[in-house]
Amino acid sequence: MALRTSPEVGGMGHSIKRKEDPRFIRGKGTYVDDVQLPGMLYLDIARSPFAHAKITRIGTSKALAIPGVLAVITGQDLAKYNLHWMPTLMSDTQMVLPVEKVMYQAQEVAAVLATSRYAAADGVAAVEVEYEPLPVVVDPKKALEPGAPVLRTDKKDKKDNHIWHWEWGDRAATDRAFTQADVTVKQDIYIPRIHVASIETCGCVAHFDKVNDKLTVWMTTQAPHAIRTVFALVAGHVGLAEHKIRIISPDIGGGFGGKVPVYPGYVIAVAASVLTGKPVKWIEDRMENLQADSFARDYHITAELAAKNDGTLTALRIKTLADHGYADAAANPSKFPAGLFHICTGSYDLKAAHVEVDGVYTNKPPGGIAYRCSFRVTEAVHTIERMVDLMAHQLAMDPADFRLKNFIKPEQFPYKSALGWEYDSGDYHGALRKAMDKIGYTELKREQAEKRKRGELMGIGISSFTEIVGAGPSKHFDILGLKMFDSCEIRIHPTGKAIARFGTKSQGQGHETTYAQILAEELGIPAADIQVEEGDTDTAPYGLGTYASRSTPTAGAAAAMAARKVRDKGRKIAAHLLEAAENDLVWEPGKFSVKGAPAKFKTIQEIAFAAYTNHPQGMEAGLEAVSYYDPPNLTYPFGSYVCVVDIDKGTGEVKVRRFVAVDDCGNIINPMIVEGQIHGGLTMGFAPALLEEISYDEIGNIRGGSFIDYLVPTAVETPKWETDKTCTPSPHHPLGAKGVGESATVGAPAAIANAVVDALWHLGVRHIDIPITPPKVWKLLREKGITE
Ligand code: CDP
Repeated sequence: MALRTSPEVGGMGHSIKRKEDPRFIRGKGTYVDDVQLPGMLYLDIARSPFAHAKITRIGTSKALAIPGVLAVITGQDLAKYNLHWMPTLMSDTQMVLPVEKVMYQAQEVAAVLATSRYAAADGVAAVEVEYEPLPVVVDPKKALEPGAPVLRTDKKDKKDNHIWHWEWGDRAATDRAFTQADVTVKQDIYIPRIHVASIETCGCVAHFDKVNDKLTVWMTTQAPHAIRTVFALVAGHVGLAEHKIRIISPDIGGGFGGKVPVYPGYVIAVAASVLTGKPVKWIEDRMENLQADSFARDYHITAELAAKNDGTLTALRIKTLADHGYADAAANPSKFPAGLFHICTGSYDLKAAHVEVDGVYTNKPPGGIAYRCSFRVTEAVHTIERMVDLMAHQLAMDPADFRLKNFIKPEQFPYKSALGWEYDSGDYHGALRKAMDKIGYTELKREQAEKRKRGELMGIGISSFTEIVGAGPSKHFDILGLKMFDSCEIRIHPTGKAIARFGTKSQGQGHETTYAQILAEELGIPAADIQVEEGDTDTAPYGLGTYASRSTPTAGAAAAMAARKVRDKGRKIAAHLLEAAENDLVWEPGKFSVKGAPAKFKTIQEIAFAAYTNHPQGMEAGLEAVSYYDPPNLTYPFGSYVCVVDIDKGTGEVKVRRFVAVDDCGNIINPMIVEGQIHGGLTMGFAPALLEEISYDEIGNIRGGSFIDYLVPTAVETPKWETDKTCTPSPHHPLGAKGVGESATVGAPAAIANAVVDALWHLGVRHIDIPITPPKVWKLLREKGITE
């Protein structure tokens, strides 16, 4: 079965040379695939060609006869230690290796342990598995029909494929508003399954040191501490206690939410290392990565919007089927099985709303990771922004005017939404007007009218999104019970240099720069004198990791709070050194001086030296602090995007001619990094709008399981982004900052989809599901009688 490429394709980090690190024997870098340890073994995984099948036999003798192959690990082997199933982040269960049946194409079936990558791959090819195919369920609607094959037969009392029902909002008030509405619109919207497709695939090196009884795992994880705790809870019974587990998350080549969950390969590698006492490396190849993990979205939505004739929006009603694949392994906070989908009232002052979501099992890999998104916010934004556009067109109002009429007004902040969120701050009118001015909206409308007369297809689309990022607060947010705060620990050395460690983990977002900037700003120590470290559970303070744009709102705030604690102690030391009262001292970045006598001062470096050499009697020596920051609220960044498309009638190709993005993430720490985040985010929003989709045929064969079919944009396809900003600080964040990492990914797809529908509205087109591919548009045009 040719589901995988040759092993030498695996991992993308090999050829990149990096700085020396004494921890590594070959020591060239810090990506997982760069880790080389003496006697290291290699793990490769045999995968199922069927989406649903009973396993009747696994033959291992041919694999074991291959030179270098040491073992073939099956579900039966793991079952002896009760490690063949594992919990998911949503408290469901997922197979590590199957004992009875497989549930999706490309599922792990057996693992081969060998002395080289090549031997392991040869071993995988030689594993013989006999299957009896079972009926396959790929459509979540059909999965719920009476008589559909029940997939999770491992769950004793399970009689159907329904996982959970979740609803939020006031149903009665919403139904009433719909009854009283002058105008309603209703639309089915499918937001397809997509893949994060990070440059680096998933992988780990697990090393169980029998002498010290300690497990070290270098792994591609966005949440090292949470992983350590989960490993301890799951494998405590085989002797892995939390203080004997060290997770090191080295440099990561892109995470985007895909590296939050635990995947079977990690568990098998750890088990193999504990059993053999040797280091074991497992690195996915590109196709395994695309076919088996890191999937997002797959929401089948029916949305309705109600309004008055004058264009005032009144109510929103949404029903959704969430296709989770065969296990609910979504990376959502525990309390919210549909993530933060109930931010779906968006930027609009809607008085009533009700949302229902039903989770469904199908024969697909587990999905639901937060793809560069704060837990289903992309799905929410896409829905409300499509629906608002639909209503505006329905009422023959300009979509920009319609938004300006219905936005939450600046004076309404803090604003309590109909679905219970308290938006911290915003100026939606300002952002949209700025975007319209920048793109020349009025002129574009005129151009469009002229082109339409000539039969040319040009569209203008807007998306005015509101994001919700920075989970906690911990009273509402936890993952598997672990509260969602985050942390910073700072230690100032005697010479005034510092080391700061964090519970988050950058995957290329530049935390090393921005955290150092925050500390430099707060303490007056040059950023170059501050070493920032993340990702090593033996040294970093506990934290929940980096995803969902939470680092600046949580750990960024913790940096400021820890620095302020250091400053408080610094004031006492300065008072002692200057023989002045603490209250008589004034702080300016870098020094305390005596009020009215500016020549009498002590620098932070002098204070640090004194903390170890001349501190006041009765005070503990040293200058360090830790902050576990539990945010009082989320932050609500926002933006307005305007996009212009031209559609080729001959091919159906959509060309994004211009795209203006005005973002607001409150106070910005590093403008260049924020700009980079927005450029990358826009590209990751453009991709699912026009190119990317993972779909399955009726027997569960994956389509889009390689980069031949899964179309990731290159520089050639990517439009030229035009960016700008407004600044509405968060009132509760210590620095007034809001998160930004995912804003553009969340906001961009709707602007593009709205522009395409706008180009085709006069032909009777009301909606097109993303990705809006040339064949889809070409077919629509032919249906409407449009030819070249
Ligand atoms: O959690 P993640 O790092 O992915 O997202 P984020 O908190 O939005 O931050 C992404 C990057 O942008 C980090 O390096 C931030 O420090 C930086 N940033 C900034 O400079 N100013 C802001 N207001 C927000 C983020």
